[in-house]
Amino acid sequence: MHSQQDFLRDAMHRLNLTRDRFADRLGIRRRALDTWLLPSDSSESRAMPDMVEKFVLEILRHAAQDGQGALAADSRAAQPLAERIAFEGKPQLLSVSQFDRDSLEALFQVADIMQPIARRQKVSRVLEGAVLGSLFFEASTRTRVSFGAAFCRLGGTVCDTTGFTFSSMAKGESIYDTSRVMSGYVDALVVRHPEQGSVTEFARATNIPVINAGDGPGEHPSQAILDLYTLQREFSRLGKLIDGTHVALVGDLKYGRTVHSLIRLLSLYQGLKFTLVAPSSLEMPSYLLELVARQGHVIEQTQSLETGLHGADVVYATRIQRERFNGESIEGYAPDFQVCKSLVDAVCKADTILMHPLPRDGRPGANDLSTDLNYDP
Ligand code: NCD
Repeated sequence: MHSQQDFLRDAMHRLNLTRDRFADRLGIRRRALDTWLLPSDSSESRAMPDMVEKFVLEILRHAAQDGQGALAADSRAAQPLAERIAFEGKPQLLSVSQFDRDSLEALFQVADIMQPIARRQKVSRVLEGAVLGSLFFEASTRTRVSFGAAFCRLGGTVCDTTGFTFSSMAKGESIYDTSRVMSGYVDALVVRHPEQGSVTEFARATNIPVINAGDGPGEHPSQAILDLYTLQREFSRLGKLIDGTHVALVGDLKYGRTVHSLIRLLSLYQGLKFTLVAPSSLEMPSYLLELVARQGHVIEQTQSLETGLHGADVVYATRIQRERFNGESIEGYAPDFQVCKSLVDAVCKADTILMHPLPRDGRPGANDLSTDLNYDP
């Protein structure tokens, strides 16, 4: 039998990939790959998860089967990222469906490069003179401020309007008119709006970059991209892969746009198991369930937190979006239905990752992530 080291070396050789490119292809950190490639008697050497072998074999099978396809993919990879993920030919980000696995990983590489700038260890003025228009017609703290802060850190400035009351939409102005006029003043728009599909309407009215910062119960692409980026970094620390992982999504899966975008992005990976834990009136929309099932993932729906969280590698909890309720009742959804420390200690693994897009409803009796987990590592 081949050793793990021979197997990986042979695969890199056959795929004609460097260690860096191979690690990217697997969606893991170069460091994790290095530890798998060390001689097995070295103290730093680590056994690779079984899933990696399956995944590598799958990549090899695809590469052999479809040389033509690989050539096409290479020419796509040579295209600038903004073109690869364009929306109707424009540099706009409206849905995570604009990504495939390669473009997502290319974006993560850009994020890696930006980290020292975000931490102010490096300075970039690449957006000097540029103006971002930030239009938030719904409540927001982190999305609005983080987009604004990112733009400012890169040397640009931000003009914003928040809520309907203080914008011309309160005077009956259409999305089309607002978008056309704004694009005469600013170089890019970040938009949050309570209606699904509304940000796409903004985007279609202009040629400037438009980013969807949440369109009602539709999508929240930037949140999902950063969730996946976080996950990938944590997994590479743990030597785990996103392929084959078990993710529990908890809370309001009907109206929670962050989970809508996240489940789509995770579906780009292979062989996942999703357990969806929601009150029966707030289950994941069926169009998303069908999409995920078509990609060959396993989906289990339950109303029991114990069942849903058992053995999960990732628990992603969300807030109940009462402001979007349309007559739904969550009666029977008891106050003790909560992801809390005693539950996590009882059913999760030591390395289970707990996530939440925030904001968390911290009021007494809220069915949200409990504050008794604040000091959980
Ligand atoms: C979420 C949103 O607005 O969709 N927050 C966020 O932007 N990170 C989640 C929520 O409101 O519950």
